[in-house]
Amino acid sequence: HVESTLSITVVGASGDLAKKKIFPALFALYYEDCLPKNFVVFGYARSKMTSEELRNMISKTLTCRIDKSANCKDKMDQFLKRCFYHSGQYDSEEHFSELDCKLKEKEVGKLSNRLFYLSIPPNIFVDVVRCASLRASSANGWTRVIVEKPFGRDSESSGELTRCLKQYLAEEQIFRIDHYLGKELVENLSVLRFSNLVFEPLWCRNYIRNVQLIFSEDFGTEGRGGYFNNYGIIRDIMQNHLLQILALFAMETPVSLDAEDIRNEKVKVLRSMRPLQLEDVVVGQYKGHSKGGKSYPAYIDDPTVPQDSLTPTFAAAALFINNARWDGVPFLMKAGKALHTKRAEIRVQFRHVPGNLYKRNFGTDLDKATNELVLRVQPDEAIYLKINNKVPGLGMRLDRSDLNLLYRARYTREIPDAYERLLLDAIEGERRLFIRSDELVAAWDLFTPLLNELEERKIAPELYPYGSRGPVGAHYLAAKHNVRWGDLSSED
Ligand code: BG6
Repeated sequence: HVESTLSITVVGASGDLAKKKIFPALFALYYEDCLPKNFVVFGYARSKMTSEELRNMISKTLTCRIDKSANCKDKMDQFLKRCFYHSGQYDSEEHFSELDCKLKEKEVGKLSNRLFYLSIPPNIFVDVVRCASLRASSANGWTRVIVEKPFGRDSESSGELTRCLKQYLAEEQIFRIDHYLGKELVENLSVLRFSNLVFEPLWCRNYIRNVQLIFSEDFGTEGRGGYFNNYGIIRDIMQNHLLQILALFAMETPVSLDAEDIRNEKVKVLRSMRPLQLEDVVVGQYKGHSKGGKSYPAYIDDPTVPQDSLTPTFAAAALFINNARWDGVPFLMKAGKALHTKRAEIRVQFRHVPGNLYKRNFGTDLDKATNELVLRVQPDEAIYLKINNKVPGLGMRLDRSDLNLLYRARYTREIPDAYERLLLDAIEGERRLFIRSDELVAAWDLFTPLLNELEERKIAPELYPYGSRGPVGAHYLAAKHNVRWGDLSSED
């Protein structure tokens, strides 16, 4: 039995994602004793920095969550001692050879496994993968690479990226992250469906009227305009995060919980869907607005965004799955920046109870008995089911109440960040929550014709005020499919 060592290289170590998410997640894993006994973390970037400076930089973002004891401080110090920095160009094989030497020094005599986290812009993915795989792959253990989206901007560029990556890496070495798959409630979706008899039998067109996947942020793209303007909300959120949730929601029961079995089912659902058309979507862009003496910027006020940008910061879409389970059921997606609230949720609206005995006993608005299941992914994770209930008393009046599983009331443990779970899975070689190439192809095939058309026909987004509920077009789109967004019993 040879002792092994794990080297994690964060390429793009001085970037925002690395500072905010990756280093803190690595520390959290260390804190929870989830990392192997022998491990080192290398930061790699172009800026000149010493290892001490890297430690200083990342120490500011590490947290022990609720643990404020001295133990936490000790653990941080021990973790930081295992962090090193190497400065190099992203396209220099020589600089990656130097990294290789440094890694070898730390790995002496051990079986070495190497994980590279590419936290860099997409135009340098392939350079880094080439240099890392040719010059800094493990000689005797595994080498894996985690890549962050964007994985191209349409079917063609994404296909090209995959082809280039595969010149240097085998499919099982590539871990494409979609961090929404690491979120607690998204993982729980399959548990809810497949381990409770009360849901799965209803999970089909006979009982479900529509499904809504909603993402909203109450801030704009300030500071990220340069990236965002080339992608827009459809590529940034819908084609990946929301579509992944949809696939997990709608897939057939997998043969087992093995990564390939689950991903096979997800691909099947994606391939059963009709590519989106222009009439299935509404796009919007936020405009400046002042409220209560405070003024909020327009998307195009960002200096890195051209004044005539047509990039959508909001989109709503209606998707359909052409299979026996879901025929005719609208899956509505809505994603937007600079809206009135920050939340991500899945809402399942059920059909009306046929021949409702109690129709006279509801308030005016509620004459049709129906149910709604909501999975609030964030913030304040919860699963609740809206049911019709008798208001206590001598009369017979019904209202709609919630059976509510509020995570913070039920579980005391803090919920780990999505990146912790995903990093741990990549270290353990668990691929269930990563996107396979054929899945990516299917996802792009759904959106590419629409994205091309939006661009070719220069479709102008509907403007909506910063901090509002988004363009009214989204309501018309839903109405066209007989759907009302959000809570059935209120206007949210
Ligand atoms: C990223 C998008 O993938 O997800 C961002 O690029 C978005 O635009 C972010 O803000 C949202 O993630 P979370 O975990 O904060 O909901």
